[in-house]
Amino acid sequence: HHDPKINIAIDGPAGAGKSTVARLVAEKMGYIYVDTGAMYRAVTLKALESGLKDGPPEAISALARGLQIGLVPAKDGQRVSVNGDDVTDLIRSIEVNRTVSMVAQIEDVRKLLVDKQQHMAASKGVVMDGRDIGTQVLPDAEVKVFLTASARMRAERRYKEMDGTAMTLDELELDIQRRDRMDAEREVSPLMRADDAVLIDSTQLSIHQVVDHIIDLCKEQIGKE
Ligand code: DC
Repeated sequence: HHDPKINIAIDGPAGAGKSTVARLVAEKMGYIYVDTGAMYRAVTLKALESGLKDGPPEAISALARGLQIGLVPAKDGQRVSVNGDDVTDLIRSIEVNRTVSMVAQIEDVRKLLVDKQQHMAASKGVVMDGRDIGTQVLPDAEVKVFLTASARMRAERRYKEMDGTAMTLDELELDIQRRDRMDAEREVSPLMRADDAVLIDSTQLSIHQVVDHIIDLCKEQIGKE
C-alpha cells in the first residue's frame, strides 16, 4: 500500500528561495522537482542566441515550439537541456536575467510551457515552482505555498550565491524590485497568490524551517486523501 501522491505548487517572487526549498521538499517526498523558471530561461537563451531579442513575439514563440526542453534531476540540483545540449549554467547569465521577463510575457510562449508543465504533473508526485503554478498551471494542486521574503533579504541571498558577480548588493536589490514589478504588473498570468495558498514569509526563517513547514502541510493533506 502506497501513500497517495499529491502535487505541490510553490509560487513567489524572485529570490525567495523557491527552487532550493522545492528541490528539498521533492527529495524528502521522493517526488519530481520541476523548475518552471528554468523553462522560461531556456527559451530566452535560445531567443538571445538567435538574435530575436528585439524581434516580433511570434518569432520567439515559433522558436519555442521547436525546442525540446529537458529537466533532469542531478546531485547538485537539476540539469537543464535544450535539444540535447546542457544549458544549466548558460540560463543563469546576466543577459538571460535581463531578458526573461520580456519573454515570459509572450502569451503563446506561456501557453506552450504551461501545457508542458501540466503534462509533467499529470501523474502527480510533482513539486513545481514558479509564479503562476497555484493559479494557472495546477489550480487543483493539493498543497499550495506562496513563498516570499523582503527584497533586501532576497538580494542578499542572491549576492551570496553569485560569487564574483559584477553587480553590487544595491544593484541586485534594484534588479529584484524591477523584476517583481514586471512579473506582478504584466497582463498575462501576473505573479499572484492563489486564494488557497499558504503564505510563508522566509525573511526570518531558515531553509530547513520552511521545508519542514511544507512537509507538515503535505503530510496533513495526504492524511486526508
Ligand atoms: O524563477 P526564475 O527567476 O528562474 O524565473 C525566471 C523568470 O521567468 C522570471 O522573470 C519570472 C518568469 N516565470 C514566469 O513568468 N512564470 C513561471 N511559472 C516561472 C517563471
